[in-house]
Amino acid sequence: MNLADAQSRLDAALQEARATIDAAETMDALDEATRRFVGKRSPAAEINEAIKGMDPADRPAVGQAVGAFKAEIAALEEERRAALAGDDESAAAEHERLDLTLGTHGVRHGHLHLVTQIQRELEDIFVGLGYRIAEGPEVEDDWHNFEALNIPPAHPARSMQDTIYVRLGTEEQVMLRTHTSPVQIRTMETHEPPIYVVAPGRTYRNETLDARHSPVFHQIECLAVDRNLTLADLFGTIEVFVRELFDDESVRTRFRSDFFPYTEPSAELAVSCVFCRGDGCRVCSHSGWIELGGCGMVDPNVFVAVGYDPEEWQGYAFGFGLERLAMIRYGIDEIRTFVENDVRFLARY
Ligand code: DAH
Repeated sequence: MNLADAQSRLDAALQEARATIDAAETMDALDEATRRFVGKRSPAAEINEAIKGMDPADRPAVGQAVGAFKAEIAALEEERRAALAGDDESAAAEHERLDLTLGTHGVRHGHLHLVTQIQRELEDIFVGLGYRIAEGPEVEDDWHNFEALNIPPAHPARSMQDTIYVRLGTEEQVMLRTHTSPVQIRTMETHEPPIYVVAPGRTYRNETLDARHSPVFHQIECLAVDRNLTLADLFGTIEVFVRELFDDESVRTRFRSDFFPYTEPSAELAVSCVFCRGDGCRVCSHSGWIELGGCGMVDPNVFVAVGYDPEEWQGYAFGFGLERLAMIRYGIDEIRTFVENDVRFLARY
């Protein structure tokens, strides 16, 4: 063997070693592969042995070539070892990983009750029209809930059937308000006209809870008092707000003659059915219309009760139920679902 033989054998061995070492998948396989090229009976060991029999002039160069070969193998081994260790580490890390992510999917966010959402929406619409929000107590007296609203003592609305009385003071003088209309009286008693207010809030009637009736529900009341107000102002206001509320230009409003002691003339307010667009369906009982509430021009007797001059001031008022409005908008057919607190219902809206 001479220098050229030794060099070509080492070159061939290095090529083979590259492939073999890179293919080692475990630390043991890597040890074994390395040993094959630099251990006993490896090409490096054999050439080392052969140096003694070579031309003395070649010996240093052959020795250097073997040294360079060993260094190459050591570098390849080191590189592969690092790669395997890295794989091991990431495999171990993956195995020991604790998932601390707080998933956003399973977490339910709370939100306002459907009635509260509708109430705030209505407040926004009316505030946008220049109205202010008024409030009154839920425990009312006879004067504000009935008397000042021109509801005479014998009126059926006062009977024990409808009104939940509270045992305070004189019998049948204190009650849970049966509508939001008393806020009209309280506002006029404490403010001078012109007045433009809406009063949303909770109301109570002596009803048994079933699909269509609830002893607790919500209304919104509107009162405007100014000079020269007419029915056209009332109708126009309602039309504007209904369109805003249903976000639909095609929803129509209908007024039919009705009676309320505190308005004259009075009207029942209905909107064209938002489900069948007036063709007739289950929601509107095939009439094409859905009744929303009552309205009218403030009765002069009411102005007298609060000390306003009925010759000088005119007013319009309307009121309707918020649950009813939500039922119309979403096609909900049982009023009791609003108070049952079933999260499946609450979460849907
Ligand atoms: N208070 C009436 C009710 O509870 C609704 C109502 C009718 C309010 C006519 C009004 C009105 O302001 O003018 O059914």
